[in-house]
Amino acid sequence: MEMAVRKIITLGNPILRQKAQPVSKITKAEQQLIDDMFETMEENDGVGLAAPQVAVPKRIFVAKWEGETYALVNPVIEWRSDDLVSGTEGCLSIPRVQAEVNRHLKIRVKALDRNGNKIVIEPEGWLARIFQHEIDHLDGILIIDRSDDLYWVVTEVDEDGKERTRLIPTTKSAIIAAFQKRKTPVRR
Ligand code: NI
Repeated sequence: MEMAVRKIITLGNPILRQKAQPVSKITKAEQQLIDDMFETMEENDGVGLAAPQVAVPKRIFVAKWEGETYALVNPVIEWRSDDLVSGTEGCLSIPRVQAEVNRHLKIRVKALDRNGNKIVIEPEGWLARIFQHEIDHLDGILIIDRSDDLYWVVTEVDEDGKERTRLIPTTKSAIIAAFQKRKTPVRR
């Protein structure tokens, strides 16, 4: 099957704010979508990607962590650990923004795999974080909704020609306003 890189939509596109629909039947179209999502995630150096980010409002996400790949259809979080951990997250749909987000350290997720088989996964740590971030996308929730600790990531080139990254504190409303002004997707 041919794989294709799809366009990632950014903050301001209403599809990102919709609740995605459950997949009633996994057909060739869903499998193609999953393949394309892997390709798109790799191309953009992401560790996770949800279908709404490629403008498809279906409950599907893909992830890649420590050499393992995951494709989950209709994921449901069945259990969450009480412990919360803070971590730095970015999102391909909100380029150049970074957020400190609290997530459950461990969760249990039931879902279907790309062939429609029932699976149960208990991710911990960063994989659990990725899963929670992507499942949020399926409910129209973004990192700017989950954190008050938000930053613009600014890359500067100093006199020696070295690239340096600077974090500028910002707010949710400032980020939303900045993305509304952009008619074209920002350069990554
Ligand atoms: Ni994201």
